[in-house]
Amino acid sequence: MKIILLGPPGAGKGTQAAMLVERYGIPQISTGDMLRLAVTAKSPMGVKAKEYMDAGNLVPDEVVVGIVRERLQEDDCAAGFILDGFPRTILQADALNEVLSDLHKQLDAVISLQVEIESLVVRLTGRRSCLNCGKGFHLQYDPPAADGSCTVCGGELMQRDDDCEETIRNRMEVYQQQTAPLEDYYRKQDLLTVVDGMAEIPVVQETIVTALQGC
Ligand code: AP5
Ligand code: MG
Repeated sequence: MKIILLGPPGAGKGTQAAMLVERYGIPQISTGDMLRLAVTAKSPMGVKAKEYMDAGNLVPDEVVVGIVRERLQEDDCAAGFILDGFPRTILQADALNEVLSDLHKQLDAVISLQVEIESLVVRLTGRRSCLNCGKGFHLQYDPPAADGSCTVCGGELMQRDDDCEETIRNRMEVYQQQTAPLEDYYRKQDLLTVVDGMAEIPVVQETIVTALQGC
């Protein structure tokens, strides 16, 4: 199964992708997570990417396309993958088509999560993730342990640098301008399913799984 999760910042792409990984045994490919690892490692690419990410802008297409091209060739992608946060521009979508064609693969579905803007801000300002295992939480909707630690490994939780309100608003703007046109792009290819992302996390998951039946 080869799928894309599309949706604005905070729509639940990462949350849903992690659950789909468990269910289908295929990897989540999150360009955001990969870039954050590069930033933490202070690699040349990470140093370059950090200024874009801190401002809530997109990292240049050629950087991100290069990362995804390499990742899709790894063995664990043979049976499929879940792209989370990629593609984000028409140029990236065209590049993905080329990469998949080179690998003799085809997308099965594109799921677009729809969530109201003000809910996105609440979700992102309340988001936390485990420094140790990466599990995501929300202070209200998916809370950590009573002492504020990770429910899986007991690790300390952190807040992303780009989850402050000003940067969140810019990320939303960037999404509308550069990424939202991908809905039409994939609708024309008859790959798009729009999913109500306002429902509770398990309900959204079941809607996605139903949409993926037959893929
Ligand atoms: P990225 O990491 O991809 O961030 P994003 O797209 O802004 O999306 P988020 O990760 O913030 O949200 P999400 O949809 O994953 O939501 P989540 O599941 O965590 O990218 C970060 C940056 O990297 C970009 O700004 C850019 O600079 C760069 N970048 C990345 N990819 C790039 C690309 N392809 N090209 C160029 N630059 C790129 O959920 C959010 C919160 O809500 C959580 O707390 C969760 O618990 C909660 N929640 C989830 N679902 C629900 C629900 N149904 N109800 C209630 N709460 C919920
Ligand atoms: Mg995410």
